[in-house]
Amino acid sequence: MSIRLGDTAPDFTADSTEGTINFHEWLGDSWGVLFSHPKDFTPVCTTELGAVAKLKGEFDKRGVKVVGVSVDDVTDHNAWKSDIEETQGTALNFPLIGDKDKKVAELYEMIHPNSLDSLTVRTVFVIGPDKKIKLTITYPASTGRNFNEILRVIDSLQLTAKYSVSTPVDWKDGDDVIIAPAISDEDAEKKFPKGFKKLKPYLRLTPQPNK
Ligand code: BEZ
Repeated sequence: MSIRLGDTAPDFTADSTEGTINFHEWLGDSWGVLFSHPKDFTPVCTTELGAVAKLKGEFDKRGVKVVGVSVDDVTDHNAWKSDIEETQGTALNFPLIGDKDKKVAELYEMIHPNSLDSLTVRTVFVIGPDKKIKLTITYPASTGRNFNEILRVIDSLQLTAKYSVSTPVDWKDGDDVIIAPAISDEDAEKKFPKGFKKLKPYLRLTPQPNK
């Protein structure tokens, strides 16, 4: 049974480069990103882990804890760290789970054998403070991810969790947002005092309410 949006993120206990992680406990009231990479000491993964380390401050700002996982062990993760720092210019600053026994990989269905034999593909799970899955993305081993896109989606998820709005194509923090169609014009005037543009009865744009 695959993990779907709105499901509770499976809980687990695992070793990591920062000690034992009891996942739900570790998340606490924070948002979380759990992402898998195929293998330590491989080129694309090295660039991805460096990119996430560079963006750590952006995840922190949004109250998001980040954790990586692969089916390597923690000893390998620790040995790989210096390569990441040397080649990407940033030291690893978030935990990497060692999942040699594939417990986490199987729980989250991160191994897609028709794509990549017995290694994890590049999955991303965004988890809300309610421990529900808010986003899943899966990339093949050959394509490095764009973690700025993950931050963009988190901005949308956090905004739409608070306000009766959704975000249009290519939206980024600060752009106009869409008022939920279920809200009447009369209620929209009260809820969105900055006003709105009514392009169609179902398509009303308003400035981002928390800016
Ligand atoms: C990579 O990170 O470059 C990679 C890892 C596993 C399979 C293919 C590519």
